[in-house]
Amino acid sequence: MRSLLFVPGDSPRKQQKALESGADALILDLEDSVALDAKPEAREITRAFLEEARARPRRPRLIVRINALTTGLIEADLDAIMPGAPDAIMLPKAEGGIDVSHLAAKIAVREAECDLPDGTTIIPIATETGKGIFGLGTYAGATHRLSALTWGAEDLSTDLGAETNRLETGAYTDPYRLARSLALFAAAAAQVDAIDTVFTAFRDAEGFRAECLAARRDGFAGKMAIHPDQVAPINEIFSPSPQALARAEAIIALFDANPGVGVIGLDGEMLDRPHLIRALRLKARAVKLAE
Ligand code: COA
Ligand code: MG
Repeated sequence: MRSLLFVPGDSPRKQQKALESGADALILDLEDSVALDAKPEAREITRAFLEEARARPRRPRLIVRINALTTGLIEADLDAIMPGAPDAIMLPKAEGGIDVSHLAAKIAVREAECDLPDGTTIIPIATETGKGIFGLGTYAGATHRLSALTWGAEDLSTDLGAETNRLETGAYTDPYRLARSLALFAAAAAQVDAIDTVFTAFRDAEGFRAECLAARRDGFAGKMAIHPDQVAPINEIFSPSPQALARAEAIIALFDANPGVGVIGLDGEMLDRPHLIRALRLKARAVKLAE
């Protein structure tokens, strides 16, 4: 998944638009973009949309962001949406492996009740609280359902009591840069994809592009979007470019042609095992995207 587009769970209009957006996945939101009074209605709208969207031939992956574990809302969230068979559940304000295994148990019960296969995955937003930062090392091995991990800067700044999370230049301040890096390490430790957080200034196309490029550079596999205009740049930037693919293929061919060789030179650069692994991963990603 390169692009994951947030859509408020109580807006059938935006849900329909989102289906045409080209996003690899939709995140149907029952949490912060839905007012408390609108939650019951949002659950019903979202479940109806899941049923409709699932029937489409080339559909995006369908993720539902439920409310946080501590809100007392999640039993009703899961009861309403699991019969719609979402592909994944996004857990906001997740604080570690215990939270995702707790959610995994709740999902397993609903899968059994709804006669669904054991396959609904979990994507935690893992840096939305100070406590969550200290739980980042505990996701690895917590549940087989973990399919990706993402981070958040907006709720974290609320938890910290910060005035802002960005400098005037648009760059994140130190606490959020740290959270971003730790999210990358947590995803690598758990061997799942890291997904970059949202960019809320949705009219700032240039700032958005720069943030996508920085995310790809650092190892994120994709990025969450809040507006349909953000989808095309994400898909473009997080797809391997023809040049990158050609380079990866050259590296793979070179190692294939020199079996048993650990280190080798190409265009004046030393290549060894990590370079080969990176090339193989990029090639695998390109093949998968072409399917
Ligand atoms: N998904 C699907 N469609 C969307 C959309 C989204 N996330 N955001 C905007 N659109 C639609 C609008 O409905 C509008 O279509 P319409 O004219 O046919 O009604 C069109 O795209 C253009 O929208 P625009 O006028 O540029 O933006 P807006 O002012 O209507 O909406 C937001 C701005 C931020 C309210 C909106 O983008 C949004 O709801 N984003 C998602 C918020 C969210 O889920 N947040 C939680 C995670 S942080
Ligand atoms: Mg939030």
